[in-house]
Amino acid sequence: MASVTSLTASVHQRLAAALTAALPEAGAADPLLRRSDRADYQANGILALAKKAKANPRELAAQVVSQVVTGDVIEEIEVSGPGFLNVTITDRAITENLAARAADSEGRLGVPRAEHPGTTVIDYAQPNVAKEMHVGHLRSAVIGDSVRQILEFTGETVVRRHHIGDWGTQFGMLIQYLDEHPHELDHKAAEVTGEEAMSNLDRLYKAARKKFDSDEEFKTRARRRVVDLQAGDPHTLAMWQKFVDESKIYFFSVFEKLDMEVRDPDIVGESGYNDMLAETCRLLEESGVAVRSEGALCVFFDDIKGPDGKPVPLIVQKSDGGYGYAATDLSAIRDRVFNLKANTLLYVVDARQSLHFKMVFETARRAGWLNDDVHAVQLAFGTVLGKDGKPFKTREGETVRLVDLLDEAIDRASAVVREKAQDLSEEEIAERGAQVGIGAVKYADLSTSANRDYKFDLDQMVSLNGDTSVYLQYAYARIQSILRKAGDVRPSARPELALTDAERSLGLHIDAFAETVAEAAAEHAPHKLAAYLYQLASLYTSFYDKCPVLKAETPEQVENRLFLCDVTARTLHQGMALLGIRTPERL
Ligand code: ARG
Repeated sequence: MASVTSLTASVHQRLAAALTAALPEAGAADPLLRRSDRADYQANGILALAKKAKANPRELAAQVVSQVVTGDVIEEIEVSGPGFLNVTITDRAITENLAARAADSEGRLGVPRAEHPGTTVIDYAQPNVAKEMHVGHLRSAVIGDSVRQILEFTGETVVRRHHIGDWGTQFGMLIQYLDEHPHELDHKAAEVTGEEAMSNLDRLYKAARKKFDSDEEFKTRARRRVVDLQAGDPHTLAMWQKFVDESKIYFFSVFEKLDMEVRDPDIVGESGYNDMLAETCRLLEESGVAVRSEGALCVFFDDIKGPDGKPVPLIVQKSDGGYGYAATDLSAIRDRVFNLKANTLLYVVDARQSLHFKMVFETARRAGWLNDDVHAVQLAFGTVLGKDGKPFKTREGETVRLVDLLDEAIDRASAVVREKAQDLSEEEIAERGAQVGIGAVKYADLSTSANRDYKFDLDQMVSLNGDTSVYLQYAYARIQSILRKAGDVRPSARPELALTDAERSLGLHIDAFAETVAEAAAEHAPHKLAAYLYQLASLYTSFYDKCPVLKAETPEQVENRLFLCDVTARTLHQGMALLGIRTPERL
């Protein structure tokens, strides 16, 4: 048996049973259990239930207390105030529960898998071909990858889709230019670094743009190219493929720097749905979901209006026959629902695209592709701001290149690591610097709820104090150092020992890991996990300050405290891994 019933769940069960016994007409009533400062838990549900049953709350509370069995899990239960219940857990139950978590042979710390897992297709990390990646792409990648891992951890089947921007009119210009200057991208792909790949593309883009703006005949040829591309002309497609390949070299280098796994088969960009576009339009038109308006195929909505008060349609096909972003997304929905058999479609995309997704999802619902069993959610994220609180730009007012930011974070973090390092080699400093720097960037992004904007402030991100990944990584490394110093003395749970307050708080918090993961998964909210981990590290710090570990009073206490250190470390490690952040053994 790998999964462990949490103390919260056991207490909940006992109180719910006592409540049903005391007030049968309440049925499966919720005692509303919360962690509390006064006792370990407080149950707040009695008041409302008593009111509903026209009973005296204090009397009902006293009846519940008399029904609860104490001794094994519950040490003490008492009525407080107008009808609250305060519950204290036995020290033994806390230690035994943690021991069961540590003994989980799968290494999941007893975290159960979802009872009814489904299939989620998650659309994240979707940069655009032949373009630099910027901070917006950072957010989608970081949030998406964490949500993916959290969902997988709960047993959900997750299909990743990197919906890269690899289709559209600008490719006509690029392809035409490359066709006229055939050697501009010639090289053996394997030898090209990400940086070179991007500078090749950038050079080509600028040159093509210049010609496009100054040469009318080139412009005409470029426009014709788009038509050839969408019609599938083999030579044009081969040229287009060169751009995609060159861009992928660059994307992969950035994802590698981000310490993030992106797999080639999961990259299914806009072009991947080209064959479905005509049929998508036909289905929408035949069902009457979309109508022709001034030649274009449109879907109208009552509640979506432009600034002038007129309804804004979703344009599925333009009047010249061209398909845009909406047709692609609608086709992707059909693929994800009918071929990939998804129950949930998740889109980790900038909040500025919310109107687009609102219209696309509503269209798909009207068409019957989405319904009560298959639903789509945009995990809309806010904007990354500069220190001045305005959208993040360079001093020259240009968008900031993601790679430059990451390099700077790594530099800053390396400086912090070097300052603290006692016995680290240069090579180790470089490795830790990258793990700390990238961790800092990811954590800053994940620790605020996704829909909020946040300030990109590297000084704060790599600080050793406060709610940062560095603080968490140091807590982890400190534990590892204690475990190393313990030498032959092994961590070992000693349920017979009485616990101090600091040990109890730490233990009860570790027990809540499973519930936190479940909540973060259900709400697609990595920030809840980040907040949990920060509190874990803080509780560990107080424990460490108050309770000598290796110098504890008895050998049994040393073992039990080492055990607490060890489970804390494992929980930190697992939780950080779900955020995509490394926990180095030494710092
Ligand atoms: N490539 C787009 C961008 O950079 C994001 C794609 C979002 N996904 C989607 N299915 N539309 O803004």
